[in-house]
Amino acid sequence: MTTTTKTILVTGATSGLGRHMALHLAREGHHVFATGRNVERLRSLEAEALAMSVKLEAFAMDVTDDASVDAARDQIRARTAGHGLDVLINNAGFGLLGPTEAIGDAEMKRQFDTNVFGLMRVTRAFLPEMRDRRAGRVINVSSMGGRVTLPFFGVYNASKYAVESLSDALRIELGPFGVDVALVEPGMVKSDFAQHAVDSLVSYRTPDSPYAAVLASVERMNADAKRFIEIDTVWVSRAVARAVRARRPRARYVVSIHARLTLVAQRLLPTRWFDAILARSVGITRRALAGAAAAPPALAGAAE
Ligand SMILES: NC(=O)c1ccc[n+]([C@@H]2O[C@H](COP(=O)([O-])OP(=O)(O)OC[C@H]3O[C@@H](n4cnc5c(N)ncnc54)[C@H](OP(=O)(O)O)[C@@H]3O)[C@@H](O)[C@H]2O)c1
Repeated sequence: MTTTTKTILVTGATSGLGRHMALHLAREGHHVFATGRNVERLRSLEAEALAMSVKLEAFAMDVTDDASVDAARDQIRARTAGHGLDVLINNAGFGLLGPTEAIGDAEMKRQFDTNVFGLMRVTRAFLPEMRDRRAGRVINVSSMGGRVTLPFFGVYNASKYAVESLSDALRIELGPFGVDVALVEPGMVKSDFAQHAVDSLVSYRTPDSPYAAVLASVERMNADAKRFIEIDTVWVSRAVARAVRARRPRARYVVSIHARLTLVAQRLLPTRWFDAILARSVGITRRALAGAAAAPPALAGAAE
């Protein structure tokens, strides 16, 4: 890509990382299309952009809905006189938290529907113009959790591992068409993400759950983790902006020292040691789980 001002779509721009990166990129002079489902938040984002005199247009797009994605694609085609996007940033996502065996099929599907199928649906919609022009870029917001699995985050992590794998394949397949694919892998970042994840734990925190003793303290541990390792959204926006600007973007941008150290520890330590560290970090110990019920936990979201 040669022009410095690019047309960029950010999904999941109504809060957290997406909102910050949409405004950050618009401030850098790009023409940003910011999308999400919450219309009220989209209007407030647009108002903030207007007050900053930057070029940002916000409109609704649900990544899990074909018609909604097609409508957004048509709108962007019309707004760019058929040019389409220079850069697509797939950021929309959420994280389910709960004992892996207790998360039923319906909840697992909901997780993958947004984080994986949603990302692919949006990518497919915007690739044709990039491929035709032999120029474009897809930036997928994955996570450190796309390379390291944390206890009780197994289903979320699996969705991000899928994002990593799909991005690797797309990077190789689309390279000859002049389309770059990069991954951004943040550690823990200030946003609504963690609270939503903790909220999703409620249905698994039943007194008869075999994990009850441990789950009771996950919220407190999350609060501790937030205090010590959480970074500001600006660091993610800067990494994304680097991936947008770079003549040849890196395959992966790891964001935060904690994420880097965790990846190094995973590579260097024997698996047993690394598992033990992760288990202790959420309080999974034999003592904590002594006397746990033998029955399997009730499946949340089992009915479809
Ligand atoms: N915060 C962290 O610690 C962290 C760390 C690593 C990676 N990440 C990743 O960063 C991304 C953004 O998360 P965040 O921290 O900014 O969380 P957040 O504040 O909860 O924001 C999530 C965004 O995703 C959007 N979204 C969810 N489902 C959607 C759907 N079906 N269609 C369209 N938009 C949808 C939400 O918008 P609407 O509700 O308006 O649709 C919202 O704008 C996620 O992919 C997450 O996995 C976050």
